[in-house]
Amino acid sequence: MSENSRDTWRILEESIVPEKMADNEALFSLANGYLGIRGCFEEPACSWCRGTYLNGFYESHPITYGEKAYGYPEQSQTILNVADGRKINVWIDGEAFDILQGRVRKYHRELDLREGILVREIEWESPGKRIVKIRSERIVPMSRTHTALIRYEVTPVSSEMNLRIQSTLDGNVKNMRVNDDPRVGASLGPETLLYKRGVLSEERAELLARTRQSQLTLACGVRHQLQGAADVQVQCFSGSREVGVEISCKQGKGNTFRFDKFLSYSYRSISEEAQNLDHMREALDAACRDGFDQLKKEQFEYLNNFWEHSDVCIEGDVKMQQGLRFNLFHLLQAAGRHGRTSMPAKGLSGEGYEGHYFWDTEIYVLPLFIYTQPDIAQSLLEYRYSILDQARERAGDLSQKGALFPWRTINGRESSAYYPAGTAQYHIDADIVYGIKKFLQITGRFDFLPRAAEIAIETARMWHDLGEFIPRQGGAYCINGVTGPDEYTAIVNNNYYTNIMARENLVFSAEILENLRERDPAGYDELILRTKLKKDEPEQWKKAAGSMYLPYDQELGIHPQDDSFLNKKVWPLADTPFEKRPLLLHYHPLVIYRHQILKQADLVLALFLLGDQFSLAQKRRDFDYYDKLTTGDSSLSPCVQSVIAAEVGLEDLAYEYFRRTARIDLDNVNGNVRDGLHTAAMAGTWTSIVYGFAGMRDYNGKVSFQPHLPQQWKRLTFNLNIRRNLLEVAISHDEVAYTLKEGTSLDLYHEGYKHTVYQGSPLVFSIRPELKAVIFDLDGVITDSAEYHFQAWEQLCGELNIPFDREFNHNLRGVGRMQSLELLLDLVPERSYTEAEKVEFANRKNEYYKKLIARITPEDLLPGIADLLEELKDAGIMMALASASRNAPSIMQQLRIEDYFEVITDPGEVGKGKPDPEQFYLAAEMLRVPIRNCVGVEDAQAGVDAINSAGMFSIGVGEYLVQTDWKCDSTGELNLEKMREVFYGRT
Ligand code: G6P
Ligand code: MG
Repeated sequence: MSENSRDTWRILEESIVPEKMADNEALFSLANGYLGIRGCFEEPACSWCRGTYLNGFYESHPITYGEKAYGYPEQSQTILNVADGRKINVWIDGEAFDILQGRVRKYHRELDLREGILVREIEWESPGKRIVKIRSERIVPMSRTHTALIRYEVTPVSSEMNLRIQSTLDGNVKNMRVNDDPRVGASLGPETLLYKRGVLSEERAELLARTRQSQLTLACGVRHQLQGAADVQVQCFSGSREVGVEISCKQGKGNTFRFDKFLSYSYRSISEEAQNLDHMREALDAACRDGFDQLKKEQFEYLNNFWEHSDVCIEGDVKMQQGLRFNLFHLLQAAGRHGRTSMPAKGLSGEGYEGHYFWDTEIYVLPLFIYTQPDIAQSLLEYRYSILDQARERAGDLSQKGALFPWRTINGRESSAYYPAGTAQYHIDADIVYGIKKFLQITGRFDFLPRAAEIAIETARMWHDLGEFIPRQGGAYCINGVTGPDEYTAIVNNNYYTNIMARENLVFSAEILENLRERDPAGYDELILRTKLKKDEPEQWKKAAGSMYLPYDQELGIHPQDDSFLNKKVWPLADTPFEKRPLLLHYHPLVIYRHQILKQADLVLALFLLGDQFSLAQKRRDFDYYDKLTTGDSSLSPCVQSVIAAEVGLEDLAYEYFRRTARIDLDNVNGNVRDGLHTAAMAGTWTSIVYGFAGMRDYNGKVSFQPHLPQQWKRLTFNLNIRRNLLEVAISHDEVAYTLKEGTSLDLYHEGYKHTVYQGSPLVFSIRPELKAVIFDLDGVITDSAEYHFQAWEQLCGELNIPFDREFNHNLRGVGRMQSLELLLDLVPERSYTEAEKVEFANRKNEYYKKLIARITPEDLLPGIADLLEELKDAGIMMALASASRNAPSIMQQLRIEDYFEVITDPGEVGKGKPDPEQFYLAAEMLRVPIRNCVGVEDAQAGVDAINSAGMFSIGVGEYLVQTDWKCDSTGELNLEKMREVFYGRT
């Protein structure tokens, strides 16, 4: 692909590569949320799956179980491949146009993302040496739900020709059948749709069909408009399950014969068969009446508006830009409208996952629409409301109160036959409610409030009934026997993600009722009556939420994914050959479940969705732990990993994960694009940019930013619709600008500070690194108390007979008291001491130490420090102390320097000491200075490592230190000028 900026708006194909046709059918598919047509050619040759799908139009079929148990879903649903309306066959002077025969002289296909049109041009030489040019344009109009249209042009090139064209609606299509890949599924009978012919004339042709089980009726019709030939003959065409026209004409060399083909599809329940037919005809006639050019114009206008609100512009990276626009376009195509359908996991581009809707919609896709197309967002949530009754029934099947939404479904009923990675994912209830909360807070569309509240009540009831206060867990509220987002771990107790999301759900459910009561008292009363809500229910929800069990592993300083996770063996990923990936296709689930191995982000997803409940240092430790266990075998994973990597300052990794999703389908990264596009991952690209690189967060509706542009880009611009205001965010390497394009004023947070942006006066902030704060270690940097620590340890070691010297003392610098003791005791591994003894040793050392430091006076400031503190203060540079020593405050007092410091971190509040970056993250957070504007000064390697891993500029005092951004021999060399020189001079 040439690095041409026009290419960011189109997807090109310049030659026919038969092996790629199946993939391209998905990539070039067109849809409008209701009707989807795979990008197969009009002519049947070279097709892999001539798919045409109607969102929500499915057949049910019994699920066959080898062994069945109570409450398993009996029926599955599969989206149906309906009559092929794109089909056109051409004969030139009796020779069939077939790209697999003869020779393709020129070929060009392009999907134009700005116009929403698929164009193909081909010049072909027949085996009989006749040359013909064929051009087609295809549109599935966004603003005309039921319609599709094709403009087809044939131009004889080599000589005058007799043309014969069959253009039909062909019901002889089947669903794909793949049984060895769980990601495809489907096992329909041979003849799912019972077709019969409707009206058939030269004017119009119709096919009508019924499903056998799901009681749905389908009507589809076709009409043609012909142009540009003198004596054309048109006849009806009719074959088995196929209707249309046959056109014959003689066409002079260089003269183009053109016709426009209009298609319409509609489905409803069988009881509305007649209305359905009328409906299909109305749509078809309207399209025909308005004509191809008008519909093409409408499509352009619709998309123009879409891009105005939803485009994300990346300057300096054509490939990523193209990938991103391609993704956004397909998401718009895939999202169900009118509140009756959701987004199939593969959109309407293929049969992977059988056209089912999952939690993908609410957790991965919804934010994009909330912020750019709130109508679509609302429609997706209205769909959930429409299946609330089925969810109530499903909860009943599982002996649970309230409502349990199905893991996968079309019609609202659970369709998952494998409960460990299906029904057991109870978190779907909380995911939906999470989406609802965001929707209400960001769009402010309160007309949805009563329905939102009803979902909130029923889901809270489910959680309140599912969990239990467990005495052996100190009476904490536990949720046992569930599966979290990670499908490589199943049926566990207290999946952290599930518990914390359930807590959020329970709290929100109580809140939304209050909200509804205030805004709509009558609606509230009606809802209470209808749901028979008892007075004390919300109180009980809050109580369960308040006692929710959220485990923490002290030793590792991380959150266990669930109760048993950390007790498992780590999967040897490095030794697993490429041919054995993804694991789910090569190992029995039990083998996988027995290991610490993740298909996708689980705990890390919680760090993202509920990030205000975790400190930055905590996120970093959890991320570091889980990231290396995450295979990414699920396409839902990299975008989440990218967001958290960006947040904790791992910018290269964040970009790498982003890169993997941005072109996931365009580059067929997962190798299965033929089955359909990965819509959740596509939406994840937007998430990685807006939540990741732009650092947007919206906890409780408060919108904040912490932007950092990837090295590779020049500039990033996108729009957000926030409570009816349109905000443009533009980020370069130097600055970020917030511009209010619609609305009067909007509050936002930039790098921790609140601002208001007004229309007409953009807010602009520098994001270049600037030296704004210095975070000091104490011992060895400010005063030589390191020496006293040494002496105190030396005394203790003497008494305990532990070999200890100055050399070994380096290991103890920056290391906390108990941990230092452990390092010393490791020198005498043959001895063992009780905890109480160890505490006594540490206390003893501290007493010696306290005696020594009692002598400290301001005279004991290390060389240059007094001047440095004064200089920094004069220059308005903030200072913080990040010492592991609990004695730091008293030493600071004795040195009489505590007034210089805005922040003295309390090591007692720090979960993990240096080299963990926690203390430096904490200091920067308390100073409210972005990491990039901080310098850390340390004399210990553990401290330097901590500064580096926080992503801060590190200054080391001591020749023995490694990996510092700059180091000096003694504090005497430290002054503001030098600091500025090295800070701004860094590469
Ligand atoms: C600093 C020192 C360490 C010491 C630690 C804890 O990091 O460099 O040598 O062990 O503080 O000090 P404390 O005064 O709390 O024992
Ligand atoms: Mg030190």
